[in-house]
Amino acid sequence: PAPGWTTRADVVVVGSGIAGLTAALRIHAADPSLHLLVVTKDVLAAGSTQWAQGGIAAALGPGDTPEQHERDTLVAGAGACDVEAVRVLVTEGPEAVRELIALGTQFDHHPDGELSLTREGGHHRDRIAHAGGDATGAEIQRALIAAVERAPEIEVIQHALAVDLLRSADGSVAGLTLHVLGEGQHDGVGAVHCRAVVLASGGLGQVFSQSTNPSVSTGDGMAVALRAGARLRDLEFVQFHPTVMWLGPDSQGQQPLISEAVRGEGAFLVDFEGTRFMQGEHELADLAPRDVVAKAITRRMIETGKPHMWLDARHLGLPASEASPLGDRVGGEARDAVSRFWSKRFPTILGVCREHGVDPVTELIPVAPAQHYASGGVATDLWGRTSVPGLYATGEVACSGVHGANRLASNSLLEGLVFSRRIADVLPGELRAWAEPAVDHRSEGLVDGELRRAIQDVMTTRVGVLRTAAGLAEAIAFLGTLDPGDPDVGPPAWETSNVHTISTALAAAAALRTETRGSHWREDFPDRDDAKAGHVDSWLEGDGTI
Ligand code: SIN
Repeated sequence: PAPGWTTRADVVVVGSGIAGLTAALRIHAADPSLHLLVVTKDVLAAGSTQWAQGGIAAALGPGDTPEQHERDTLVAGAGACDVEAVRVLVTEGPEAVRELIALGTQFDHHPDGELSLTREGGHHRDRIAHAGGDATGAEIQRALIAAVERAPEIEVIQHALAVDLLRSADGSVAGLTLHVLGEGQHDGVGAVHCRAVVLASGGLGQVFSQSTNPSVSTGDGMAVALRAGARLRDLEFVQFHPTVMWLGPDSQGQQPLISEAVRGEGAFLVDFEGTRFMQGEHELADLAPRDVVAKAITRRMIETGKPHMWLDARHLGLPASEASPLGDRVGGEARDAVSRFWSKRFPTILGVCREHGVDPVTELIPVAPAQHYASGGVATDLWGRTSVPGLYATGEVACSGVHGANRLASNSLLEGLVFSRRIADVLPGELRAWAEPAVDHRSEGLVDGELRRAIQDVMTTRVGVLRTAAGLAEAIAFLGTLDPGDPDVGPPAWETSNVHTISTALAAAAALRTETRGSHWREDFPDRDDAKAGHVDSWLEGDGTI
């Protein structure tokens, strides 16, 4: 539909997690005269950042160096990282985290005042800063929102779904259309004319039936960028987190994460016989990179015909000599010590487990892999620029090259932080003159919101952890012949159309990568093949095909 209202801003930031709010704050600091608008689909705190548990990785500890962080990142990325981008991430990371602290983020400290750093899968050093035990994202989100509130010149529109980008005659970004649900003077579909857009709208978890991502993660930013002519890169590299609490076969949508930091503190995986099956799989055993652990769990689930495996964390906080793998025999004082440890170090996870009827102090936690992170996304250079002039991308929506085929744990918050700072360094100096947007208001080809579940089912069963040519072909055929229905124009149809678009691009990319690498696991091509190590790009053709 034609926009019911129009407004203007120099720069629009889409998304309000660590990437979006850092971009807004830094651009504002770089040039306070710019009119900045942050739009976010729900409320400011609703995105993925606030759910982050483990923490944020940076070489901040004694003896650690950016070079070691770089090595771990490259190994996890399985030969598909952009080395220059990784170097930027790890060298600028420590300073960026210190800046987050200066902004007011309260990370956990040891009694002697030193920052408390933990370890997660794939890291050879303790380098994960955390807050509130396992509530790191919530604390970072709090601090960033407080900082934005201290800068009232930054305009914010909540409940605003980005529908499409508007471009000028020369193809550069000239605005975007939004669907706003009742926000003051803005309501319904409207247009913002602007000189640059920073996409920081997060991931695509809702493309799958089970994900750790919140309900807002419907791949909107990637779909919007694709429709505007931007290149997407390496969408097939979808990370499945190994230890997501298993809530039963019918559980759909956002699932509770059991942070890798729980294994970092000594928890381990066992099968139904009590066998520690990660031992012998990898030199880091239960702390192997995430793809290795997710694959080992999936393999064991298939071999044993079980829907999940178990995480044993009933000994956390005990001295190694008392940390019996038979945690159920731990009683009395030892059990109190475990309970105290859980309450202090993992209060959020403890609460969630108990809410679902499992006491991790005395019981095993049922876990299975579920979608967690999109390592691919909108292709960017080292300064967050996409292939469309005036369009920048940062955070999970972007593919900056730092994650390769498998993101290293706790590098995601860091990526948003570092690359948003970089965007703010260049964007004010390269802002384009105002240009008239060419009118391009999409209302055709929308997919009925009722179809989302069917799309998620096919993506989970055919384009999930384990992929084959036949399964991918089935998914591609299903998506390509889906009758979209005749939905009412509105957020459910906008979102489901985006889910459909990104599912189509993802399934096609997964079919094209005929090798197993990082998080992309092909049963029919079980080996890594370095002759096929290049990127898989997705773009929209003139006839509407991807
Ligand atoms: C976790 O805490 O296990 C998740 C951290 C991450 O995704 O990097």
